[in-house]
Amino acid sequence: MRSFTILLTSIFLITAMIFVGCGNKQEELTETEQTEYLEKGQDLATETQKVLGSNLMKAINEGGPINALEFCNIQAYPLTDSMATALKAHITRVTDKPRNQANIDNKDELTYIASFKEKLGAGEQVSPDISVMDGKVTGYYPIITNQMCMQCHGSENDQINEETLAKIKELYPNDQATGYGAGELRGIWVVEMDRE
Ligand code: HEC
Repeated sequence: MRSFTILLTSIFLITAMIFVGCGNKQEELTETEQTEYLEKGQDLATETQKVLGSNLMKAINEGGPINALEFCNIQAYPLTDSMATALKAHITRVTDKPRNQANIDNKDELTYIASFKEKLGAGEQVSPDISVMDGKVTGYYPIITNQMCMQCHGSENDQINEETLAKIKELYPNDQATGYGAGELRGIWVVEMDRE
């Protein structure tokens, strides 16, 4: 069963790669450029994650997870906008198992998510990746869960309290974002930068 799944995943990935490869013109970055863009994107992703994490924490401490639900929405953070503008970058957060359907990955992003998951599953280190297409450089940065996330993304039976779960189901009737454990890939930051 497991090898069948791996086979299916491989076929899917190869097909996806051929598809991506044919559909768009892939350009090359020099090694120095790669490092520069990876770091630039990482700065923005780290900053956004930091702001998000501390606001989430603060809201949970003040009124429990139910009070904090809106704080996991990055749209609520114009705080990082000025940094994004300065870096001429645009940041989004996507996943293969969305709570908010607006955060669903596209087929390019899914390729990166699948590869990060595979590495994590094999106990390997996951490191960010980068692609360049049509004059845009895009960085992909893994978002890994920790214990704090379990209050809203963990097991529905014991980790998410009843009141919070009911509210999540009410706000997001098609929620797929529960059942995670700590240390799993919850999604990715996607940072799109102009190539200069
Ligand atoms: C207080 C509850 C709560 C906590 C704690 C929480 N989240 Fe969320 N999370 C949400 C809600 C609600 C959304 C949907 C936000 C929106 O509408 O964009 C969400 C969305 C997300 C998304 C976007 C993809 C999607 O499914 O819509 C990611 C990625 C994510 N959370 C990661 C995390 C991580 C990582 C942690 C821990 C560091 C965490 N969350 C902790 C409630 C929470």
